Amino acid sequence: MRIVIAGDHASPALKRTLAEHLRARGHEVRDLGTDDETSVDYPDYAAAACREVLAGRAERAVLICGTGIGIGIAANKIPGIRCAIAHSPETGRLAWEHNQAQALALGARVLDPETAKATVDAWLAARADEGERHRQRLAKIAALEQRPCSTASSPSSELPSPSTPPS
Ligand code: RB5
Repeated sequence: MRIVIAGDHASPALKRTLAEHLRARGHEVRDLGTDDETSVDYPDYAAAACREVLAGRAERAVLICGTGIGIGIAANKIPGIRCAIAHSPETGRLAWEHNQAQALALGARVLDPETAKATVDAWLAARADEGERHRQRLAKIAALEQRPCSTASSPSSELPSPSTPPS
């Protein structure tokens, strides 16, 4: 798989470890930086990596900051990108299975390297669940990009009647 990896100044050590790990597993990995601990802004790295995915030059993006939170929030502001902040093999797997998140955000200061590797491996190995409920939810996420939540309407006017679908 073609994978881009990028992150801020908290990321270099974990980024190198993951890039090496993924290459050893046969993936084509492009590292977009940053390469040292000089302070940089994580939105710039989220944008650089997600641009590659949107342009079709990479299938997936691994994004790293201190917690995974900032770079994940930034990536999710980019139309067309679904980014999951993952912290375990299970969240990595579900990020693809349920959310088809093409970007995975990881926290270099909160994850040990072995957990990070296992999380990314589970995300890459997962098969998308094509169940109708997931398809519908992804379509609704895409619709939010076209028609952002109106602050004028009341919350209840946007909600369907409760049902008990499978999770
Ligand atoms: C940088 O110090 C830190 O704020 C950043 O890496 C990230 O954790 C933000 O969410």
